[in-house]
Amino acid sequence: MKTKILNPDKEGMEKAANIIRTGGTVAFPTETVYGLGANALDPDAIEKIYKAKGRPSDNPLIVHISDISELQGVASDVDKHILAIANEFWPGPLTLVCKKSADIPDQVTGGLDTVAVRMPSSSIAREFIRSAGVPIAAPSANKSGKPSPTSTSHVIDDLNGKIDAVIMGDDSDIGIESTVISVTGGKVNVLRPGVIGEVEIRGCLEKSGYKLSSGFDGSASDERKSMKDVPKSPGVKYKHYSPNCECFVVVGSAGDMDRMRGSVITQKFSGFFDKETRVLDFMNLSTQDVINKIYHSLRKLDEDNIKRALIFIKKDATPEYEALMNRLHKAAEGNVSEL
Ligand code: TXA
Ligand code: MG
Repeated sequence: MKTKILNPDKEGMEKAANIIRTGGTVAFPTETVYGLGANALDPDAIEKIYKAKGRPSDNPLIVHISDISELQGVASDVDKHILAIANEFWPGPLTLVCKKSADIPDQVTGGLDTVAVRMPSSSIAREFIRSAGVPIAAPSANKSGKPSPTSTSHVIDDLNGKIDAVIMGDDSDIGIESTVISVTGGKVNVLRPGVIGEVEIRGCLEKSGYKLSSGFDGSASDERKSMKDVPKSPGVKYKHYSPNCECFVVVGSAGDMDRMRGSVITQKFSGFFDKETRVLDFMNLSTQDVINKIYHSLRKLDEDNIKRALIFIKKDATPEYEALMNRLHKAAEGNVSEL
């Protein structure tokens, strides 16, 4: 199949919408990462997503909507807590796991009775969903096992010839995937950390005058910690991206770079400083700037046949940092040291 590259203009959007309505697959930019979309109401179209990505079919997809009013069509039992959170954070990088409506096929949810829903803030993404006239099921538009794509060229590298089209866009504003949460009554569970943190979400419920259930414990529920338990979010049981390149992450405080280089940890790596080793020194960047670059940098390691990478990260106490470290723990398979 030849993958069409579409401009995000009226003509391109019409072509993309038409592909979706006729059961095809279209990759599109969002503010987090690029998604690979198909009609969420069409089981055959959904199968094409799994096939193109090489993704296990019991790992459910996120359903994307263009307006909050569409939530009731894809989810059922939408309660006041979910609505308060959706009203506060949508459009934006937050995915809400809700009870699914009967219209959503099992292929989308991997057989679960819940559905993950997100309304992206990217205007191209929302225009695309609106034009298609149906909810769009979309995982990240990478080959399974590669980092999520944050540019049109990442999508083409991974999926050219395997999908019907890609809508061209700029590099993703944020650069890592959305926060995924479930909300049962007043109890919020963070299933995948993202740039919207649990404190902000909890604050929204409190501001709306809702009493938080005493069961609230986002801190114990991120993907890393829930690995040992039955996965709350099916995606967490799969091996996540880790480059062929062996990664070592070193975390320090601002201004620590010199100390880090001379530290025991870097001494341990001193024999490694050769052509096959790359240092990704992110100590002078804000966490958001690191998030912007991280998937691109990780992809480059393998493209350039780098064998070993030392990744220096500045510690902070933000939700962005927690989300970044969640992804880096996976990329480095736990090789994370702190100064
Ligand atoms: O930012 C994002 O979320 C991007 C863009 C394209 O929207 N999408 C994305 O999709 O990252 P994906 O498929 O790569 O990750 C979706 C995550 C997976 O970990 C999956 O297991 C989880 O959401 N998920 C989906 N449906 C779920 C459900 N019903 N219950 C629990 N977890 C669910
Ligand atoms: Mg993904």
